[in-house]
Amino acid sequence: MASGFFITFEGGEGAGKSTQIERLARKMRAKKYDVLVTREPGGSPGAEAVRHVLLSGAAEPFGPKMEALLFAAARSDHVEQVIRPAVERGTIVLCDRFMDSSRVYQGVTGGLDPAFMEALEEVAINGMVPDITLIFDIDPAEGLRRATARRGAGDGPDRFEKETLDIHQRRREAFLAIAAAEPQRCIVVDASADPDTVDHVVTAAVFAALETMTPAHKRQAAPA
Ligand code: TYD
Repeated sequence: MASGFFITFEGGEGAGKSTQIERLARKMRAKKYDVLVTREPGGSPGAEAVRHVLLSGAAEPFGPKMEALLFAAARSDHVEQVIRPAVERGTIVLCDRFMDSSRVYQGVTGGLDPAFMEALEEVAINGMVPDITLIFDIDPAEGLRRATARRGAGDGPDRFEKETLDIHQRRREAFLAIAAAEPQRCIVVDASADPDTVDHVVTAAVFAALETMTPAHKRQAAPA
């Protein structure tokens, strides 16, 4: 591989992103691609330190702006310490959630000012726009049922899972709106299908894109 690629996976709760990322990574490694699987919030030591503060709900009393700033701080560290160096050395980075989760969870359902969110995103990603984003779409009632089953008894829902079905429905619509606004970057995947079908769709979409696309970081570097 002459150049790396940056692929993100987005969507609501219980859409099966993590399972599909692992399957895709296995297939890519079998084809001798150099693959790095990572996630947000987290993915670098600095960002993992912030992850617990966010998912435990410790930051929730300070409001959505505080949470958005913490997600952005974690993202900036993750981009500079892990994602950009990996893509620059030719690795394919598969990232479980990224900037679209902030747009949706903090921006839309957090009710933050769009101009503030845009400025924050620009600082956090610093040009590291994903080459492809797979948006896993599922009815939130089904997604939450899956997320609860996955957690098993004992563990309660995290800071974001615990919110009302109405909020999860708004998130679903917001992810679909991003996909509609940025069709060159986003691919919507029907995540309600069985895992093998989803796997098939994801694999076909990613391999087709890898063959035909110039990675975004190269497009930006090219003279106008
Ligand atoms: P996690 O258990 O890591 O993942 P998932 O739901 O993808 O299986 O939870 C991450 C939670 O953090 C999830 O509820 C979405 C939320 N989140 C945001 O609100 N903003 C963000 O920018 C990111 C990356 C995640």
